[in-house]
Amino acid sequence: SPLGSIFQISEEKIKSSPWKEILEELKNLTSQYNISIYAIGGFVRDLLLGQSNYDLDIVVEGDIQLVISKIIDKWQSKVITHPQFGTSEILLNDRKRIDIATARIEYYEEPGSLPKVERSSLWLDLKRRDFTINALAMSLNEENFGEIIDLYGGLEDLTRKELRVLHNLSFIEDPTRILRGVRLEVRLGFNFEEKTFKLLKEAIENGFLNKIAKERLKDEIFLILQEPQPEKVLKRLEELNALSYILPVKRLPKNFEKKNQILRREFPEKLELHILNIISEADTEEGKKWLQDLKFPKKVLYQFILLKKYENTNTLSEKDIKSLLDLPNDLLLLLSLTAKKIGKNILRIKLLKEKGVPYLKGEDLINMGFKGKIIGDLLKKLFLKHYYGEVKSKEDEEKIIKEFINSTQL
Ligand code: CTP
Repeated sequence: SPLGSIFQISEEKIKSSPWKEILEELKNLTSQYNISIYAIGGFVRDLLLGQSNYDLDIVVEGDIQLVISKIIDKWQSKVITHPQFGTSEILLNDRKRIDIATARIEYYEEPGSLPKVERSSLWLDLKRRDFTINALAMSLNEENFGEIIDLYGGLEDLTRKELRVLHNLSFIEDPTRILRGVRLEVRLGFNFEEKTFKLLKEAIENGFLNKIAKERLKDEIFLILQEPQPEKVLKRLEELNALSYILPVKRLPKNFEKKNQILRREFPEKLELHILNIISEADTEEGKKWLQDLKFPKKVLYQFILLKKYENTNTLSEKDIKSLLDLPNDLLLLLSLTAKKIGKNILRIKLLKEKGVPYLKGEDLINMGFKGKIIGDLLKKLFLKHYYGEVKSKEDEEKIIKEFINSTQL
């Protein structure tokens, strides 16, 4: 074949994919209308590995609008088009997403190598990719459905569990690939092929990670945090001396893995909290600058400053406790992990809050005849009594309020 070796994906792999029906529909479209459709990239990689992927990237040679309308007729979905790139996204209601690119047919003559064939932008698309295992395409056309198009030896690398760049300048052209590579290495349990690893290390040593635009860097950091094992990815980047190029720290904090797993378990969606943990041992000024450069919300900046304030605090005053009480539980958990001397005390505050302490609520105090600011003050006072272990039950609390009433009436 002019397109390299031919390999057919097994039917079981298609059958066990959550994309089965959609792939089938796309195949039918290619036979009913005069179009070609290919799946490309991470989708093909994951399908071959027997893993599921929420994204299906396809290249359509022919009427893209037809494909979109046929899909949305059958499956509930939302469409976003990017006319400037000739691409569209179909968001299916079960988190799945189809990215569609149109392909103009272009004619290429490669010196010496392949015969003159129609080269669709499929070919161009694959040529521009990061690793060989991501440069595979799969035909969804009726006549050769499931045939893998492997121009760069991606299939072999997939069986060898290796990450190999398509050319020597890959990491230099796009340094985010360094981060993508490490994410894939950890997620798939693959290794970098020897030469690729050398190129990767050189690109890091030569500071190419500095060239990533701030906005993209932020996206990449969030992608790392959404990996199944973000701690491992970050550890690996630390080991490769890559951390200081992307974060305001050279090293991860002490006991990072354990702390981050706790945060992820309790607050899986709060990625900014995870970031604060990662940068918790940064120099205060450097950390602030980094958060500002990457345009994190002001709130995150304040939380970082608070974290640094409590980091080396030796004892918690009553005033501290009262102000900590107003913080959300996620932040309390983070502070309990980053404050070296008073972590346990902060955790105690969080646990008491979760227990519903104080048991008397604002409305109870209103019913008892209080109004205005005093209510908040009394609730905090009651909380403090719990914190110091001076009260245990709602009855204890009522007793204290009664004593308070008596003392003010005197
Ligand atoms: N790609 C690339 N260089 C980049 C980013 C992406 O070459 N800096 C290519 C990769 O080949 C990838 C494809 O674009 O396969 C699509 O990117 P994306 O959807 O981000 O990645 P996936 O490979 O689908 O991987 P993931 O499972 O992480 O989504």
